[in-house]
Amino acid sequence: MIKTILKNTLKKIDLNKYESKVKNIHNMIHNKTGAGNEFLGWTDWPTNYDKSEYAKMKTISTEIKGMVKDIVVIGIGGSYLGSRAAIEMVNGLHAEETHNIYYAGHTLSSTYTYQLLKKLENKKFAIVVISKSGTTTEPAIAFRLFKDLLSKNLGKDKVNLNKYIVAITDKSKGALKKQAVENNYQTFTINDDIGGRYSVLTPVGIFIMMLANINTDLVLEGAQLAMKDTNNDDVMKNEAYKYAVARDSLLKDYNFKSEMFVAYEIQMQLIAEWWKQLFGESEGKNGQGLLPTSAIFSTDLHSLGQFIQDGTKNVMFETIVKIKKTPHDLSIAKDELDLEGLNYLTKFSLHEINNVALEGVLEAHTKDGLVPNIVLEMDTMDSKMFGYLSYWFMKSCAMSSYLLEINPFNQPGVEVYKQRMFKLLGKK
Ligand code: PA5
Repeated sequence: MIKTILKNTLKKIDLNKYESKVKNIHNMIHNKTGAGNEFLGWTDWPTNYDKSEYAKMKTISTEIKGMVKDIVVIGIGGSYLGSRAAIEMVNGLHAEETHNIYYAGHTLSSTYTYQLLKKLENKKFAIVVISKSGTTTEPAIAFRLFKDLLSKNLGKDKVNLNKYIVAITDKSKGALKKQAVENNYQTFTINDDIGGRYSVLTPVGIFIMMLANINTDLVLEGAQLAMKDTNNDDVMKNEAYKYAVARDSLLKDYNFKSEMFVAYEIQMQLIAEWWKQLFGESEGKNGQGLLPTSAIFSTDLHSLGQFIQDGTKNVMFETIVKIKKTPHDLSIAKDELDLEGLNYLTKFSLHEINNVALEGVLEAHTKDGLVPNIVLEMDTMDSKMFGYLSYWFMKSCAMSSYLLEINPFNQPGVEVYKQRMFKLLGKK
């Protein structure tokens, strides 16, 4: 379902050189012997997930959808990006939704939060609060604000507040778990051995996808397929490892410092955000790693496109996502007057034009701009593909991080801002 094409990297990627290293790291991942091995639960999750919890999530999500039209999902980082990425990629940006899903807790913006609270005034809505640690400040603040509003909106029915709240958190520890137990909220668990940015296929992502009417059976089917396809220690045959090796070689052998993830589908913008978190938080340690950036074409061709084509050289390469077949396509009708001169395009569908644009840009950026390009060819943008691509990128990220000899599963740098912020806020 994903093919890594290395024809346009401009630099020779010597896959053979990596063969034994990749085999060793593959074994390290599968035997759980590398740094951070206590967080490798995601590797077999697509088949090992808790089946009874999954069934319960289906029941509860159906109940919630029957009770309310508006749902606030509260979380940040790995507790937020994956589900939103799935919803936008699979459902699109203008789908006819039966329910409104709003996000909070990923920002401290008072204006954003005020406006969302205002929108939900006098409404019965549901809250899904997600925090593995249960102690992250941003979602904790949002939870308090939205819970207070919900309680007010429920009026006499506020005795039933707990029926409108679901908490997804650790099975036993953290402030959120404590609140959930005390207030009798429905909870779903994030396993100890799965970290935030590797948790999209757990309740963190799956429950929200269910609320958004995504077929999660197919998501997991896609992930199982990726699990099978990437369980291969041969870099020549494992497309996820091929991608990891190509980016490692561009960094180490050719000194490129930044990778730009480029999609030609605007509903993949959040996939790009999820990907940036996955690679940025996993690899950006000990003064190492590629700076992950992203662009959505065509829109960014009319902004960053100038820099890519003509700006500072030898700093970045692009990783382009090419979608073979989109869920929807359009044709362009002939116009008798043809004042805009578009009739020559009527032999193409809109998606074909998009893919021709991709090929043209690929030539321009590589041949004229001398920017290396990795192409990731994906079948489509449906539920199964989301499951496949999320697992596939997590696997390549683990390989790529271990090639840098770093622990992919911690984020010590994130703690630094928290400590400074807490000190300034006077937290005891
Ligand atoms: O990948 C990670 O671990 C982080 O991005 C976390 O997901 C993020 O910091 C949110 O943490 P928590 O779920 O504990 O609130």
